[in-house]
Amino acid sequence: METVKYLLSEREMPEFWYNIVADLPVPLPTVLHPGTKQPVGPADLAPLFPMALILQEVSTERTIEIPDEVRSIYRQWRPTPLYRARRLEKALDTPAKIYYKYEGVSPAGSHKPNTAVAQAYYNKQEGVKRLVTETGAGQWGSSLAFAGALFDLEVLVYMVKVSFNHKPYRRALMETYGARVVASPSEETAAGRAILAEHPDSTGSLGIAISEAVEVAVQRDDTRYALGSVLNHVLLHQTVIGQEAMAQLEQAGDYPDIIVGCTGGGSNFAGIAFPFIGAKMRGERDVRVVAVEPAACPSMTRGKYAYDYGDTAGMTPLVKMHTLGHTFVPSGFHAGGLRYHGMAPLVSHLLELGQIEATNVQQLETFAAGIQFARAEGILPAPEANHAVAGAINEALRCKEEGVSKTILFNLCGHGHFDMTAYTDYMAGTLKDFEYSSEEVAMALAGLPSVG
Ligand SMILES: Cc1ncc(COP(=O)(O)O)c(C=O)c1O
Repeated sequence: METVKYLLSEREMPEFWYNIVADLPVPLPTVLHPGTKQPVGPADLAPLFPMALILQEVSTERTIEIPDEVRSIYRQWRPTPLYRARRLEKALDTPAKIYYKYEGVSPAGSHKPNTAVAQAYYNKQEGVKRLVTETGAGQWGSSLAFAGALFDLEVLVYMVKVSFNHKPYRRALMETYGARVVASPSEETAAGRAILAEHPDSTGSLGIAISEAVEVAVQRDDTRYALGSVLNHVLLHQTVIGQEAMAQLEQAGDYPDIIVGCTGGGSNFAGIAFPFIGAKMRGERDVRVVAVEPAACPSMTRGKYAYDYGDTAGMTPLVKMHTLGHTFVPSGFHAGGLRYHGMAPLVSHLLELGQIEATNVQQLETFAAGIQFARAEGILPAPEANHAVAGAINEALRCKEEGVSKTILFNLCGHGHFDMTAYTDYMAGTLKDFEYSSEEVAMALAGLPSVG
């Protein structure tokens, strides 16, 4: 019998998050204060985050215990299945073995609840009453709204305007969970009003929505900010994905030669890849790791490794990352979760260290890959996840060309059931590719802050 799904019992769910910082051969560059440009301390971050998350942000411990209450909520959908993509392998006629970890079984439909639940838990523990955040695809906003409902926290979401218009049902889902959703840029904040004064038709960006959320969060003592990607503690919470995949591949008697993930801010990619990269850095097992980003927002493949703000208005701390510049507003392509100007400092650092590779793909190629995947495997991927599907298919076709059988693992980070406008546009032939000229990229990078 050919096994298709590798499943773990609830008892086999990881008890710890894995912190890759403990295994880095070179430490991460320091985080700087946006005003003084001096290293930030935990107290500087206290208006934004609860102390437990700040301590995770700077932790160098290899493992951090997952609180029982968080694990008990994870059990609503974790462990998630690992699939062997036997039908896709046949369709591609490839000698490669393709496995995918499916995070779309979570209540919100993606990997995002892995950190939303943890963040809501620590905020609740420290007496916070309200969380403010941004969302691009709506997956993160839905996840925090869901977590807020479980912990009786008020949730306010600034949703990038282009996604707000494309995805009314994501907004309805957030409202069903009890959150308030505002299209960003909005008239509700100084940051939003400044953008609208200059660009009344702005379609928004994650950087702008983050500025709005941070501005609102620091105004009230009972309110904190929550971020769905990029930060060390967010990537940490996602490592349950890779740890489970490792145990499931062991069941299958396999180990990946190649791991593929899509990258917006880097969290689902980190989730699947970090436990394996840790093993590689400890000299235990080798693996090739490929991050796939959109050609229309190519922070790693065309950006610069430099200190930059996490948001457009320059309110967040400065981090060293691959960036297109905090003022970069990507075109309104459909993978809303990948429209971020920067990349997680940890993912950027690993790219600099040569531990991972980065590549970019065009929108039309990603939808063609997603549809091929759906027709073979049945699951309809989120437009963001289509980038990983395209990356995995490219690797499998290369195996075919070279006549080698490699084991490919990719993260199918979410389903696309709320993204049917994007699919219908693709099928109607109205979607197009976006490419930036070198001049446009250079112009956005010219706004990088100078750091001594
Ligand atoms: C389904 C999905 N995949 C990927 C991403 C990109 O984020 P990250 O790179 O942090 O996984 C998002 C972000 O909203 C998303 O919704």
